[in-house]
Amino acid sequence: MMGSNRLPEIRKARQILGRTLIFRDANEHDAAFILELRTDSQKSRYLSATTADLEKQKTWLNLYSKQNDQAYFIIENLQGEPLGTVRLYDAQGHSFCWGSWILKVGAPSTAAIESSLMVYAYAIDHLKFQSAHFDVRKGNETVWRFHERFGAMRVDATELDYLYRISDERIFEAQKRYKKYLPLPVIIN
Ligand SMILES: CC(C)(COP(=O)(O)OP(=O)(O)OC[C@H]1O[C@@H](n2cnc3c(N)ncnc32)[C@H](O)[C@@H]1OP(=O)(O)O)[C@@H](O)C(=O)NCCC(=O)NCCS
Repeated sequence: MMGSNRLPEIRKARQILGRTLIFRDANEHDAAFILELRTDSQKSRYLSATTADLEKQKTWLNLYSKQNDQAYFIIENLQGEPLGTVRLYDAQGHSFCWGSWILKVGAPSTAAIESSLMVYAYAIDHLKFQSAHFDVRKGNETVWRFHERFGAMRVDATELDYLYRISDERIFEAQKRYKKYLPLPVIIN
């Protein structure tokens, strides 16, 4: 069988269409929006620090556009209004990592579940990863509770973070349980 032993790879997509959300590949024109989110004192509390420097952010996004091992998306509603960000990176064998997950104040309350389901639809169903890993700051309790309710297992901890893994089995269960948030397969362009 051709390619059956190949490891999955994180690929960029121009856009991924969900139910009420669209993921759009980030580019340098998103620098101001991303900076606004990442320097919001409430939102950035548990994120690695970002310098409030627009040029640096543009440079980072330019560099990103040339990289083939991560996918950074702007989360938008169907009207094209930006609501947040999410990133897939650090493929390790059959597992991928996701993070840089932020939704702006005022995003619909279904956006967290739908955007997680879209991440897994893309990485597991489309790119054929078999599990995910990520870390969450210990103090970021609402977020690690979110992941635990979703089915992620806490596997380790550092001084600052809890480390989580979620298997495809748990992801498939969550896809069924939360089907109303994303009833159809995502459309990838
Ligand atoms: C991470 C982030 C995007 C999550 O989004 P969020 O909207 O805060 O997620 P919530 O856990 O509040 O979930 C949203 C809603 O879905 C509901 N929900 C969450 N999980 C659910 C579940 N399993 N079943 C049913 N409803 C659920 C919540 O109760 C909440 O409903 P409400 O708005 O009526 O209170 C957001 O908190 C954020 O931007 N945080 C700052 C950045 C950050 O720390 N990112 C994480 C880095 S690891």
